[in-house]
Amino acid sequence: MCGIIGYTGKKNIAQELVVGLEKLEYRGYDSAGIAYCEHGKLVAVKAVGRISELKKLTEVSRPDSACGIGHTRWATHGRPTLVNCHPHLSYGGKFAIVHNGIIENCKQLRAFCESRGVSPVSDTDSELIAHLLELCFDGDLRRAADKVAEMLKGSFAVGVLCSCRPNEIYAFSSRSPLVIGEGKNFCALASDGNALSGVDTLVFLKDGESALLRPSGAEYYRKGKRVNPPAAPFSSASALSVKDGFAHYMLKEMYEQPEAAARTVAALSDVRLRGALTFIGCGSSYHAGLSVLPLAEHVLRKPSYACLAGEFICSERVKRRGTTAVLLSQSGETADTVAAALEAERRACRTFAIVNVPSSTLTRVCKRHAVTRAGPEIAVATTKGFTSQVIAVAAMLTRGQTADSVKRLPFAMEKALAAAETQEAEEAARLLAISPDVFFIGRKADYGVALEGALKLKEITYINALGISSGELKHGSISLISDGTPVVVVHTDPSLREKTLLTISSVRARGGFVIGITDDSDVCAASDLAVRIPHCDPFLSPAVSVLPLQSIAYRAAVLLGRDVDKPRNLAKSVTVE
Ligand code: F6R
Repeated sequence: MCGIIGYTGKKNIAQELVVGLEKLEYRGYDSAGIAYCEHGKLVAVKAVGRISELKKLTEVSRPDSACGIGHTRWATHGRPTLVNCHPHLSYGGKFAIVHNGIIENCKQLRAFCESRGVSPVSDTDSELIAHLLELCFDGDLRRAADKVAEMLKGSFAVGVLCSCRPNEIYAFSSRSPLVIGEGKNFCALASDGNALSGVDTLVFLKDGESALLRPSGAEYYRKGKRVNPPAAPFSSASALSVKDGFAHYMLKEMYEQPEAAARTVAALSDVRLRGALTFIGCGSSYHAGLSVLPLAEHVLRKPSYACLAGEFICSERVKRRGTTAVLLSQSGETADTVAAALEAERRACRTFAIVNVPSSTLTRVCKRHAVTRAGPEIAVATTKGFTSQVIAVAAMLTRGQTADSVKRLPFAMEKALAAAETQEAEEAARLLAISPDVFFIGRKADYGVALEGALKLKEITYINALGISSGELKHGSISLISDGTPVVVVHTDPSLREKTLLTISSVRARGGFVIGITDDSDVCAASDLAVRIPHCDPFLSPAVSVLPLQSIAYRAAVLLGRDVDKPRNLAKSVTVE
């Protein structure tokens, strides 16, 4: 979701900015642009669609300055058009800005601009920031930016160029990630440090901080006073990566799962999760929380919950001291999850983040954190992010025999990936690709996996899929099942065999076509089509049973010719609430 890049002190600035934007592509976007100063005037170059379009436009750009800002936009206020695309120029052309976040009082600010005779040309909230800067400018950029920051309500990370200071970038942020990098004779800014090349140190701007970037280094400010925030050495987590011969990042990342799981178990086996747990996350991360809930309750013997981050912030559910809020997030930047972490802190819960990106916002907001070792995930639809979260929690909860089973999971995952290559999996994908509606059902640990299977199919094929607890089907949704409706049944727990068989027969009695994802011979025999997965502890099975579901969704998406790695409307990192 929206990405910011900026450099000062780099030759071939236009090309450098485009390379940076390519590294931010994974966040999801629908237009992109850059701005720099040429012969004392600010110039913005923009393109709707892929960065390759912007690249074509900037191939021969050789501005006389070595300073510029760039942006990938994921539309929130207004459609993805050239005029809505960043960078935005101020009415008099003095400022160019890029912005990530949401300005909540944009209506009032728009009215304010209009009352001063300035008519914004785009539908965005971001453009207003450029105009406000020019309206507040009295020759001192920092003073103008401070004034504007005070006027803004909401979340924002902003990079500013001013035509009067063509080699400087000003940056300020609140509730939206922005990192400043310093290298030899240049300075940089980005929404994600991994997008920066050649930097030696990184400083993560805190809420209310600002930075003035020059090629010689950055100065930091808080409330108008110089501050010296701690700088971290830059470690390139970024095998920001190549497809290694795979057709898509998603496919590559699916196959990386056993290794990611093994690395995660090795790194986290000594970390402990205790007490009553509330797992909090969004999308697949929430599903990971649901999938490990039965294990947590079984091991800890305490009531545990899984809660959507967006619901947690408006519910009263967890108020007790002693509860540990486990914030699950691949990116560590999801705005709803960050808000939930802040709310959990306010409610005096212990907060524990499980993220895949070291130094991400959640690691700074939560009291404790653990980092999964999935490596960079580029495909928008998560695969190894989900399984590493499941494995991380399993590793931190278990000891003795069960911990040994956790260590063996990567082998079971290898086998499950092989099962996902069978004729049956291919047949399932073909059937789903031509079905308007698909059901995914499961219970206990299989419930979260069923939801995850449905989400994977929806997001990359655009087929309507419903994930539902097996037991719930008869309470209404079964009315949607008719001749040939595919129902994917996830079953890994022997204690539920009779119940699953009963559900299968009630689905088949209504003409439903059952696709079993299971290690159970009876369930295989009762299904119309079955993908047989290796047997493992039913509390740990989500890391295994989800793999054929990912693979089936992937194949169906390829059959339909979808943009697998960058599905429409989706962003990798959802940084607005
Ligand atoms: C689905 C997917 C999303 C994310 C969700 C939370 O494939 O990737 O549902 O799981 O947006 O993102 P993180 O885990 O980064 O907080």
